[in-house]
Amino acid sequence: MKNINITWKITQGMYVLTTENGGCVVDAVSQVSGGDNPLISVAVMKKNYTNELLKNNTKFAISILSKQVNPEIIKTFGFNSARDINKFEKAETMQIKGLEVIKDSIGYMICEIVDSIDNDTHTLFIGKLIEGEVFEEKEPMSYAYYQEHKNELLKVTTEKGQTAWICTVCGYVYYGEELPEDFKCPICQVGKELFKKKE
Ligand SMILES: Cc1cc2nc3c(=O)[nH]c(=O)nc-3n(C[C@H](O)[C@H](O)[C@H](O)COP(=O)(O)O)c2cc1C
Repeated sequence: MKNINITWKITQGMYVLTTENGGCVVDAVSQVSGGDNPLISVAVMKKNYTNELLKNNTKFAISILSKQVNPEIIKTFGFNSARDINKFEKAETMQIKGLEVIKDSIGYMICEIVDSIDNDTHTLFIGKLIEGEVFEEKEPMSYAYYQEHKNELLKVTTEKGQTAWICTVCGYVYYGEELPEDFKCPICQVGKELFKKKE
């Protein structure tokens, strides 16, 4: 038995990670150490454009999303690639230390990259907090909350006679009668057995 739903119970949050020229939604953020110069880690898939951008940058920003965040921000940054669109044209941002941070957030952390660790699929970037601010005392959106509410947040609708397949892991939607053979989620890479049908 390997029920990957158990990983949703790890208390993670929902964030927009940005760097120069791009960024994406992430949940894999941790505080590595505290003190006056906290270290923050973020795991970024190698297939993501954000990974490529971070390898050529010295800093990243993490905007912390609240439960009330406009879900369009999750759609823009989580289901599109900055290889194809300018994500910053679709969300209100402000520039801090040369990086775009999301205005519709609880606040941000700007980190200077001090280390990175590669595995087959991800790079773990570790950054030292150099600047941060709290905009509003709202309740952060946890990854578990996103999992429980993603259908209503993403408002997956189907036209008459249309079938949608929703990834139970990240919320990506594939429209089509059947999922292609060997289909993998383009966002989180899980197999078709983890998609749920909505008609
Ligand atoms: C709820 C959710 C959580 C995600 N968590 C991560 C994550 O922790 N790390 C990551 O690399 N991608 C994560 N993603 C996927 C990226 O946001 C997504 O692949 C994005 O389209 C990449 O854009 P880019 O190519 O511009 O970098 C997540 C997506 C969603 C919807």
